[in-house]
Amino acid sequence: MNRIETEPYPILQIQSDWVSQSEALGSKQKFWYDEKNEQSPWLFKYPQAGTGQHWAEKIAAEVADAIEVFHARVELAVFQGTRGSATESFAREGRELYHGNQALAGHVLGYDPQREFRQSDHTLENIHLALDRTFLTPDGARWAKERLTDYLVLDALIGNTDRHHENWGILRKRTEGGWAGMVAPTFDHASSLGRELADDNTGKCRRRLLVESQVGRYSERARGAIFWTPTDVHAISPLDLVRRASALHPDLFRPSLERLQNLERPTLERIVGRVPVDWMSELARTFAVALMCYNLDQLRRIVV
Ligand SMILES: Nc1ncnc2c1ncn2[C@@H]1O[C@H](COP(=O)(O)OP(=O)(O)O)[C@@H](O)[C@H]1O
Ligand SMILES: [Mg+2]
Repeated sequence: MNRIETEPYPILQIQSDWVSQSEALGSKQKFWYDEKNEQSPWLFKYPQAGTGQHWAEKIAAEVADAIEVFHARVELAVFQGTRGSATESFAREGRELYHGNQALAGHVLGYDPQREFRQSDHTLENIHLALDRTFLTPDGARWAKERLTDYLVLDALIGNTDRHHENWGILRKRTEGGWAGMVAPTFDHASSLGRELADDNTGKCRRRLLVESQVGRYSERARGAIFWTPTDVHAISPLDLVRRASALHPDLFRPSLERLQNLERPTLERIVGRVPVDWMSELARTFAVALMCYNLDQLRRIVV
């Protein structure tokens, strides 16, 4: 029998004199810091007021770990009395992050890397094209597409709606023979697990969605950040993306979907349950588990 960890997650206490630089990319306030004797810089992210973006980041990373999806390390953290999350940089030792929008603009004709909203050219087809053209060998491109597929399945499981073109990328390094790279670990899962919902007293609150059995509807109506076709007005839901894409690319999706076979509700409950008591409400926990269980059931129904 293996030992199962049930202790609350540790909380990093960030010291003011560790702060090194701000990070301009992305929508949230955040900064990089260097803790003494740590090899990598870490990025502290403040959650937007009234949201659970910080616990969403931590739970998402733990779920990714449970299904063996390559992910950035995340810890809960406090800076000057404010709660947030911190993620360890994977861009170190000469490696740099080449974002999805850079790869797309470099390889897909007419792709606008600056477009932030309704970037409907951010389709799976274009992402595959960019990866096929970025990696010089078929094996390299195949591996890259497999990693990305893992991320899409993770997104569908946790209800991550924010996989836009700066929320995935290629980690690359200059070598004597030219650039060498791989798909970067998955990062930025702040927009998942119903982190934006209020517990109570609003039209669409967690209590109501739970009591009225609307969790599935909430998941199905979510809009992700990857479009199905460039002519669509809205991106499809993370679940629908996996449903449709797995029908088109069964061989690519089969291994990623198979990783879900051993995932069970108790594991999800334990991952959520390790968030310290006063960091997440009971309703937020119940909702996050219910959402993942609905998504897991839907994903398991996909026949590839
Ligand atoms: N673990 C990480 N290692 C290296 N770079 C990262 C990591 N996490 C985020 N970044 C970089 O910082 C940017 C902003 O971080 P992100 O988590 O996406 O914040 P936001 O939620 O504001 O979009 C990312 O687009 C990426 O360039
Ligand atoms: Mg981001």
